[in-house]
Amino acid sequence: MRSLIIANWKCNPSTFKEAKILFNSLKKRLKKIRNVEVVICPPFVYLSSSKFQVLSFKLGAQDVFWEERGAFTGEISSKMLKDLGVEYIILGHSERRQILKETDEMINKKIKATLNNKLKSILCIGETEEERKEGKTFEILKNQIEKALSNLQTYKLRNLIIAYEPIWAIGSGKPCQVNEAMTAALFIKKLISHLYNQKIGRSIRILYGGSVNSLNASNYIREAKMDGLLIGGVSLNSKEFVKIIKQLN
Ligand code: PGA
Repeated sequence: MRSLIIANWKCNPSTFKEAKILFNSLKKRLKKIRNVEVVICPPFVYLSSSKFQVLSFKLGAQDVFWEERGAFTGEISSKMLKDLGVEYIILGHSERRQILKETDEMINKKIKATLNNKLKSILCIGETEEERKEGKTFEILKNQIEKALSNLQTYKLRNLIIAYEPIWAIGSGKPCQVNEAMTAALFIKKLISHLYNQKIGRSIRILYGGSVNSLNASNYIREAKMDGLLIGGVSLNSKEFVKIIKQLN
């Protein structure tokens, strides 16, 4: 299967002009990529530009609301995103959990809404530095997965992807050891097999995210056998980001 590389632009860049420059540079450099599935997740406001609808990569959003329409000031629904050509949604990112106080229950509702709309949902999970030191990593991952997937029918998991993103590794320049990422991925697969069935456990795609760069990216894919990567900071640097894609192509 092709590696799945997600660019999470977060709340960047701050003008449409800069977003277009970054986007055009990616478009030019990613033309001949065949063996990597690239997904660009810009801020909502840039998603609707026709400039962003190209063949060389897919579009993703960084969040979504669980209702389809109605009196929910400031929110954006799965249907609206799907209508724009968005195929992937990042859900439960630790920045949303910590800064915006998003709960597991909210994430569960969001996952149900995106999967009902046949969008590919990327559930982010991961432990804090403190939890890791206390040896609670697996307990945290289990709890986050069980709550996020609560009451979700088996057949809907086809479009679910899980990103292991240790919080201490995000934007810190301290990436997770390759063998630690691999152990976490195996744990997640086993848990999904236990909660659903072995076939789903084996086929569910697991990504790694947290201080990925062009020096460590291929280790996660080739050594840790991750199915892809979720890249924040480096995805804003088109040269570095494309370097990663080319290594994996
Ligand atoms: P980073 O972010 O690559 O800047 O560490 C990853 C993420 O937040 O998904």
